[in-house]
Amino acid sequence: MAIDFTDQRVLVTGASSGMGAGLAEEFARQGAVVGMCARRQHRLDEVLDRCREHSPESRRWVCDLSDPAAVDRLAAAALEELGRVDILINNSGIPKRRHVSRLDPATVESVMNINFFSPVRLTLALLPHMLERDSGRIINVSSVAATLSSPGESAYDASKAAVTAFSESMAIDLWQTGIRVLIVYPGLVDTELFSLPDNEPVLAAIEPVPVSELVDGVFGALDSGAVQVYVPGYFADLASGKAANVERFLSGTAKFIADQKASG
Ligand SMILES: NC(=O)c1ccc[n+]([C@@H]2O[C@H](COP(=O)([O-])OP(=O)(O)OC[C@H]3O[C@@H](n4cnc5c(N)ncnc54)[C@H](OP(=O)(O)O)[C@@H]3O)[C@@H](O)[C@H]2O)c1
Repeated sequence: MAIDFTDQRVLVTGASSGMGAGLAEEFARQGAVVGMCARRQHRLDEVLDRCREHSPESRRWVCDLSDPAAVDRLAAAALEELGRVDILINNSGIPKRRHVSRLDPATVESVMNINFFSPVRLTLALLPHMLERDSGRIINVSSVAATLSSPGESAYDASKAAVTAFSESMAIDLWQTGIRVLIVYPGLVDTELFSLPDNEPVLAAIEPVPVSELVDGVFGALDSGAVQVYVPGYFADLASGKAANVERFLSGTAKFIADQKASG
């Protein structure tokens, strides 16, 4: 039977577009009170308006989560204004498609900051409250890049691999509690992530799936109690194929990229 999310308090980061917006709207449609955040106020307001059609108590906070103090303020505001956080969705993130030969340490740090340190900080701020109630869900949006090491994205891949390792270890630590962890592995989902500036072109041309497919995948995983979900699902097979023979996977990927370049 599907979970009843009525009156659940859900905090979604990065809800101004893409998957965060899709998840926020679906939770609101299912009766949850949604708290959401991002930097672009006008985009966040559009999502909030749609959420309030179903869930009038939903609210938003405009914040830049690369600032640790803003993360702390968000956690405090969410607890105070929502009353509690039953479901935390760490979704905010930025891409960084840049060949390793053009990377600099400051760029790598900035990617780690928003993609890894900010969700960890938010999780650690809200976890004590979940532990007190012995209940809660933490949904961390990683990426297939964490397990498949996409070429030309070493900084991004590392930030998402860190999210995965942290989440898996956290899931074990919390296994005997009432808190559940879900790690989400989007493959290629049709969002603005691929048109953001300061990124090199996407190397592998894979057909993206719509945000609705990702949202369905997350709700399906919540229903089944899974600890991870890949969307589209075939990426799970690619990840186990890579784990079975890393050298073959890396050399095959390098050849694929070289062939693509050669064919223009
Ligand atoms: N699309 C894919 O195929 C794909 C694949 C693997 C993983 N992912 C992951 O999925 C998550 C959502 O991405 P998306 O594809 O839905 O792309 P998106 O539409 O660009 O969404 C990213 C969200 O993160 C927010 N954000 C970025 N920097 C922020 C900051 N400093 N402070 C607060 N919010 C910030 C953005 O809002 P503002 O710009 O308004 O701040 C936006 O709401 C990301 O973690 C991404 O890495 C996506």
